[in-house]
Amino acid sequence: MNLINGKQIAAEIKTEIAKEVAKMIDDDDKNPHLAAVLVGDDPASHTYVAAKEKACQNVGMLSSVYRYPAETTEKELLNIVHFLNNDPEIDGFIVQLPLPKHIDENKVIEAIDPKKDVDGFHPVNVGRMVINLPAYLPATPFGITQLIQRSGIETEGKNVVVVGRSNIVGTPVSILLSRKAKFGNATVTLCHSKTENLKEVCANADILIAAIGVPEFIKEDMVKDGAVVIDVGMHRIKSDKTKSGFKLIGDVAFEEVSKKCSHITPVPGGVGPMTIVALINNTLKAAKKEVYG
Ligand code: GUN
Repeated sequence: MNLINGKQIAAEIKTEIAKEVAKMIDDDDKNPHLAAVLVGDDPASHTYVAAKEKACQNVGMLSSVYRYPAETTEKELLNIVHFLNNDPEIDGFIVQLPLPKHIDENKVIEAIDPKKDVDGFHPVNVGRMVINLPAYLPATPFGITQLIQRSGIETEGKNVVVVGRSNIVGTPVSILLSRKAKFGNATVTLCHSKTENLKEVCANADILIAAIGVPEFIKEDMVKDGAVVIDVGMHRIKSDKTKSGFKLIGDVAFEEVSKKCSHITPVPGGVGPMTIVALINNTLKAAKKEVYG
């Protein structure tokens, strides 16, 4: 069994991005600039945004964080989005989710200029991805395709089974891997809560992607010998074996499944570290005007 080391692959990609940023600054005196909008005081969102800022610093990009109180109205937030859409200093920006309940997330996402939507959440970017036009790819699907490619795993003609059809992971990754493109061309099955014979379908996968959001849902009898297993889940559970009293586990029962497969991503240290890399990669593309010209 080979462990797919997401931390190491993410570090490699960050080094590549840092070199490109340094070259841009040398050639054009241009420093890519990512902004993040943070509304309210969700602790996880604050942690994610701080990690995004740090990643920008690490690769030599500029970053700005716009923090607003939880009482911010939808109209005020739409005005902030409008301001960032028109700020020539900002190459790309994200609005950290979730937003407070009184704000319609879809309305906010649709207000972002697709050219600056480095999360790849705007329907224009989703649509462009579907028809294989240049687009900002969403973080986790991009991360998964990079982990597969950089581990030397072929996708062409392979049976890929994705478990979970969320807008930000399952659905887009199923599209990316089935597209007529390099590291696509797979035969993809997208499973969900209404799928019949799930165990049998999963056990037929050459590459199994677990993005269902249920701790250790994928058991050994759902995995084919020699399969590649990508675990997108991340759950914090109580443990008396760690100092903190908690440990992180994924959607895959790692102990038993790892004995059967050829490659597997650990949790933590698999898919997780790749997601921020995707964001800074999109910001670099935005600064270079690679997607929309
Ligand atoms: N909240 C959790 N993940 C994400 C993400 O990738 N982008 C944004 N904007 N918010 C998130």
